Parts: sequence; structure tokens; C-alpha cells
Amino acid sequence: MIAYLNGTFLPIEQAAISPMDRGFLFGDSVYEVIPVYGGRIFRLSQHLDRLEQSLSAVYISPNEVMPSRDDWQDLLNELVEQNGGGELGIYLQITRGEYGKRAHVLPTPCQPTVFAYAAPLPATPKTTTTETLCAITAEDIRWQYCHIKTTSLMPNLLMQHQATLAGVDDVILIREGLAQEAAAANLFVVQAGKLLTPPKKGFILGGITRDLIIELAASYDIPCEEKDIPLEQLYRADEIWLTSSTLEVRPVTRLDQHTINNGKIGPYFHKMQQAYQQYKTKLIAGEVA
Ligand code: PDD
Repeated sequence: MIAYLNGTFLPIEQAAISPMDRGFLFGDSVYEVIPVYGGRIFRLSQHLDRLEQSLSAVYISPNEVMPSRDDWQDLLNELVEQNGGGELGIYLQITRGEYGKRAHVLPTPCQPTVFAYAAPLPATPKTTTTETLCAITAEDIRWQYCHIKTTSLMPNLLMQHQATLAGVDDVILIREGLAQEAAAANLFVVQAGKLLTPPKKGFILGGITRDLIIELAASYDIPCEEKDIPLEQLYRADEIWLTSSTLEVRPVTRLDQHTINNGKIGPYFHKMQQAYQQYKTKLIAGEVA
């Protein structure tokens, strides 16, 4: 596996950073996960927009090793090529960098560490009739700034662990009675022929996959609304889906003690799954980005 670290491509085993890096000491860093299909990077411009928003929200400003917006495209394409193309997930992380001492005050000027690698994507289910998810709900114990894609993920890890302890796949986070998202994915429900997803003004990460689902819903005439989803409504949903760069779109058929749609994958999921796979085919053909 070939990685990229501060301007250099190198085998991942040779990539090393200082233990005094603030990414290590404080989780003082932001990241992106970007899928690649048929060697083509999925929605790169949207991922770079979100990266810029995360960097600016945590006051990490560019230095000479931070690629410019234009450089990112060449750099990530090179990374994909060096890792053999095909289906990959790019992970990229920018930390505030290393300053020789540990201090809570944000150091200026910034000397960020820029790191990226590309690894095979976890296999997604090839058919729409298998691989449904079981989930629990849990109190959302995260902070207020869920829109920032930060690597400070301890609350997410602990909530995901609750799912593991309960013997299920995932956890849907509830804050003040409203469903927000999963530990590492966005949430959609279908109710009475309408697709609903919690609004960005809530406590969610604005997922790139989420945005595409909303766009696809519009072009396939599925009514979709960004709207609060109370827990009780979630239990009564006709369908529940989770979406992310690694999951794509996946149906949840069991939530806590409730079976969703009699444990079967619903018709709207089938429609969206088809639309999503068609979008990937167009991406590979170079018809969309
Ligand atoms: N996580 N919400 C949270 C909290 C997430 O961590 C993610 C993605 C999403 C979905 O965003 P996107 O569609 O842009 O992947 C929503 C990534 C995959 C991760 O942490 O590995």
C-alpha cells in the first residue's frame, strides 16, 4: 500500500509521524473518507468542500505542505494510480502538526501534517436482498459541533461499542428525543411514501452520500424532506436506511425490539439502491463526478 505524507509518496510501512504530533496527542485533526470506483474518485469536489469547511472550523490554516485545492485532485489521482485503481477508499487526514511541546493553546503559525492512503473498500453487498442491518438506539453523547469531520471520535467509538455489546451492527443516536444519525453514517426513513432525513441544522455530519441520495430522490420522483425524526416515528417507519461512503445505502430491518417492514427490504430501498448503482456506473464511464 502506497501512502502520501507531507509531499512524499512512500510505502505505508515507511510513513512515520512524531508522537508529539497534535493529531496523536489531542486528536487535533480532521479527515475525509472518499470512495473510488473503477479508479474514479467519487464526488471529489464535494469532499474537498467539506474538508475546507472542517479545516476552517478548527482554525487549521495552510502551510507549504498543505496541497492547494487544485493540487488535491492530481495528488489523489496519483495515490489511486499508485494503489492500482479499481475500488478503493481514500482516507486523508490533516493534523495541526508537531510543535515540540504539548499545550492546549492553538499554536500559530500552523505546520499541518498531511497524510493519505488508499485501501480496498469493504465489499458492498452485490444484491439488494441480503446484508440488512440490525441496530439499537442510544443517547447521543457527542459534542455540539457534529458538522465538523474531526478524528476526535471517542464518543462515536463508545456508542458503536454499545452496538457490538448488544450483538448488532449499528447504533442510531438520539438527542432530546430526536434521531440524528448513526455512529458513522447518516439516517433516512421512508414513511407514507416519503423519504425523510434529519436536517443539517441538527447534530449531524453533512454526509456526501446523504446529499447524493437527496439528489437521486429528486430525479427519481421520490418525495424527500429534511425534517426532524422523533424516536417514536423511527420505530413506526416503513423503511430505515443508513448511508455513508463505506456503506453506500443499507437497509435497517431491526431496531431495538422493533422489526421494520416485517424484517424485509422495502421497495423504496430497492429503487434507491438501483439509482445509486447506476450513478456509480456513470461515474466509472466518466459521465458524472
Ligand atoms: N464516516 N455521519 C458520521 C458521524 C460519519 O462519520 C459519516 C462518515 C457520515 C456519512 O458521511 P459520508 O456520506 O460523507 O461518508 C455521517 C466515515 C465513512 C468514517 O468515519 O469512516
